[in-house]
Amino acid sequence: MKFLVINGPNLNLLGTREPEFYGSGSYAALVQSIRQAAAAAGIRVKTVQTNHEGKIVDSIQKAAKKYDGIVINPAAYTHTSVAILDALKAVGLPAVEVHLSDIQSREEFRRHSYISPACLKTIAGKGFAGYAEAIAFLAEYIRNKKR
Ligand code: DQA
Repeated sequence: MKFLVINGPNLNLLGTREPEFYGSGSYAALVQSIRQAAAAAGIRVKTVQTNHEGKIVDSIQKAAKKYDGIVINPAAYTHTSVAILDALKAVGLPAVEVHLSDIQSREEFRRHSYISPACLKTIAGKGFAGYAEAIAFLAEYIRNKKR
């Protein structure tokens, strides 16, 4: 099984960016923890980070025949992007939405996600551990479906 993990804008700045919300770990540290979580779940994983909405759409479209599932933190595009929602719906791969911070307890505009309707689950406020939870959940979901 192979998963694509997509991280959106400004997540390349993890470690220095608002550590009170996003923690002190760098993006490289996040990738390492994602790889560890994937290995523990017996999953192969590819990580991508981009600051560009269209590139997220391209990555989702290209994932169609190459991956079994998608873990996505669309970052700020969570709250604005119908294009990412539509791409996830079009491709139809099982997907889980992750946020490092608890978007429900921050500003009003972060409480709405355009992406959630295309995802099996949203995990927020658990920092790096949220990605591990997403990978484990998706692996279990797909294995159960194949039974
Ligand atoms: C985020 C939450 C978003 O509201 C914000 O724009 C981000 C990161 C998170 O991981 O907590 O860039 O998705």
